Amino acid sequence: MDTVSRMKIKDLLNEAPGKEVLAKGWVRTKRGNRQVKFIALNDGSTINNIQIVAETERFDEELIKRITTGASLAVRGQLVESIGSGQKVELKAESIEIYGECDPMRYPLQKKDTSLEYLRTVAHMRMRTNTFGAVLRIRNAMAYAIHTFFQKKGFVYLHTPLITESDCEGAGQMFQVTTLDLDKPLPRNKKGEIDYNEDFFGKQTSLTVSGQLEGELGATAVGEIYTFGPTFRAENSNTPRHLAEFWMIEPEMAFYDIKDNMDLAEEFIKYLVSWALENCIDDIRFLNDKYDDGLIERLRSVIGTEFVRLEYTEGIRILEEAAKNGVQFEYPVYWGVDLQSEHERYLVEKHFQKPVILTGYPKEIKAFYMKQDDNGKTVRAMDVLFPKIGEIIGGSEREWSLEKLENRISELGMSRKNLEWYIDTRRFGSVPHSGFGLGFERLLLFVTGMSNIRDVIPFPRTPRNAEF
Ligand code: 4AD
Ligand code: MG
Repeated sequence: MDTVSRMKIKDLLNEAPGKEVLAKGWVRTKRGNRQVKFIALNDGSTINNIQIVAETERFDEELIKRITTGASLAVRGQLVESIGSGQKVELKAESIEIYGECDPMRYPLQKKDTSLEYLRTVAHMRMRTNTFGAVLRIRNAMAYAIHTFFQKKGFVYLHTPLITESDCEGAGQMFQVTTLDLDKPLPRNKKGEIDYNEDFFGKQTSLTVSGQLEGELGATAVGEIYTFGPTFRAENSNTPRHLAEFWMIEPEMAFYDIKDNMDLAEEFIKYLVSWALENCIDDIRFLNDKYDDGLIERLRSVIGTEFVRLEYTEGIRILEEAAKNGVQFEYPVYWGVDLQSEHERYLVEKHFQKPVILTGYPKEIKAFYMKQDDNGKTVRAMDVLFPKIGEIIGGSEREWSLEKLENRISELGMSRKNLEWYIDTRRFGSVPHSGFGLGFERLLLFVTGMSNIRDVIPFPRTPRNAEF
């Protein structure tokens, strides 16, 4: 067996016939007749299988029987030209070793039910399917592309903490972190409040909802940074676009205004989508053909178009006009509302038919740190809205005036106690700066064409679900 060294199936498929090779992987299917068996073998390196051709007379009958879907094999033999397998070559087996058998009666992927809903219940195994293999390879490629994009531009990859005292978005959707014994009565102070002095950090702490505040510290020190890590939100929204644990990419740049910020966001997403088309086309084509036949076209169209840049006020006017003309929205539209995904998608899919960057939101519906416009009503927020997704990026120019920032914090009744370190950036050498957050799984929804966010992360965390 080991006179030839193992090759990945991705590489094997590009070899010329005649070569002696060793392939290892898992059986996808076995079919054939009494004389010959055709085994589709996959090792995860590509969506494509190598077809193994095993002439039954060369092998023990027992061995052939034990080769079932899901079993793991090492197969040595010669590559021969293929006519029927959809590939250039197939592998004529000379010897076959079975590493691990796979009981067809019990193997969860043997079932005829291959719906995405069913596969979520067997997430520990679903990575072995074509669909999740493709999604994971694309996810990996996008992570690499993200680092490449920022590294080429000289951004510094900053590691921001996951455990924190501050609520960046001020939305109160944080998971508390504690080592207090919840089985016992909690320690209380004189006022009857929980005494966090007794807790691990001596303070009340939570999992972060965003690395932005620490990101701003980095940007106002080394100029341009990005974060790329997990974030946590205890928002009880069971939708196809929300996770309780998701990954976010947050660039933050000194000396960028909102226009520079929009330019970077647009360049960034186009770079990622181009990368996917260039490096993951086999996987994307598979997903296109299986789930969403508009996928490739949608990806191409995003690269080739200039994103619309639109003021919130103008967006509301378009939506009000649409409602007046009979478009049915579930939620009402008027100046001051936070847009629902139906509104975002109307603008993107129906009205403009391309991505939209919406700016100039009412300050009441946005976070405390956003740069206030002179009109006293709006802030320099920007949401990038995408077809099929709605909001894929949220960001803003940051309020860099100490006075305005302090006023906004007290207006909102926020506790300054945990924010003095943040306010220091405005006390000492304050500069105009901007940044945004791209939801990694929202990007993946777009690039893979999957319609549920639970299907673009290996182990989704959602309300009432933390399995595996
Ligand atoms: O709009 P958000 O809440 O913005 C921030 O957190 C800012 N601090 C980012 C920044 O300016 N540095 O979240 C940013 C993006 C959203 O546009 C969305 O793509 C994604 O994160 N996101 C989620 N993705 C999955 N599940 C959730 N529950 C998400 N919440 C936000
Ligand atoms: Mg947002």
